[in-house]
Amino acid sequence: MSVLPPAASTLAPRFDALFVAVTAVTTLAGLAVLVALVYFGVRYRAGSPAYRHEDMAQAQRRARIRVEVAWTVVPLLLFLVAFAWATWVYVQRDAAPANAVPLYVVAKQWMWTFQHEGGQREIDVLHVPRGEAVKLTMTSQDVIHSFFVPAFRAKQDVLPGRYTQLWFTPTQAGHFHLFCAEYCGTEHARMGAGELIVMEPLEYQRWLDGQGSGNAAAAHGGELFREYGCSGCHGANAAVHAPDLAGLYGRPVPLSDGSTVTADERYLRDSILLPRKEVAAGYAPIMPSFTGQISEQDIFDLIAYIRSLAETTQRPR
Ligand code: CUA
Repeated sequence: MSVLPPAASTLAPRFDALFVAVTAVTTLAGLAVLVALVYFGVRYRAGSPAYRHEDMAQAQRRARIRVEVAWTVVPLLLFLVAFAWATWVYVQRDAAPANAVPLYVVAKQWMWTFQHEGGQREIDVLHVPRGEAVKLTMTSQDVIHSFFVPAFRAKQDVLPGRYTQLWFTPTQAGHFHLFCAEYCGTEHARMGAGELIVMEPLEYQRWLDGQGSGNAAAAHGGELFREYGCSGCHGANAAVHAPDLAGLYGRPVPLSDGSTVTADERYLRDSILLPRKEVAAGYAPIMPSFTGQISEQDIFDLIAYIRSLAETTQRPR
């Protein structure tokens, strides 16, 4: 029997090593205190013949400096080691590899909806390839949820109104539990019935192909681009002076306040919902906000469409 769930991602053994080390050090320190407590309690009990210094005050003064320094410096060093170690693990957890497979997650009461880059959708079950980094861009349609796969030691809050990200590289094929780790209402427990299915890369590719549609998300996004009237300003024949979206995704964007941001998912989403927050340099802040008019799913599809223009130079129609 094992205390921890299987360690099935590249980062899992690193989290485990840190966890075991911190638990071991604190257990040893706790035991040392306990042993000293019992030993001194017995040795210096009332009426025991143990040697007591004639001048206690003077002896204590001499010992005090050494004792104070020891129990300040030793724990300080131990904590700093734990801090540096944890930071090292945290930084790796935070930075997804550049070639990670993108996946999009919308949580809502009470289910997980997943969308693969090609537009294939799944509910409560997510298929991913073994040995490849996967990067989830997640948002919630209502309250705070939390995406938690214990076997990957991967957990990230999923918040309404913004994107959070999580990445992992599965190292074992198999079925793994997916939980919602944030109480999100009456049927929160239902979101704990999710499943992550890790497949061998070839098998995964076959599964993905079997789901149809190479580019459904981007194609649907292209339709939305016209339906929501985006093309009226950002399109090829627009009379309005609006930024060109061809070749935009992943590039740096100079803003009117002099700073620069990268045109990633976060920036595109904010530009649709809060267009005055980051206005591209050289453009008037005239775009209307689409807050409350467009679902998170549709935003993902619009972003998929804009992403599909990343390598083009022609303005969309
Ligand atoms: Cu979603 Cu708890």
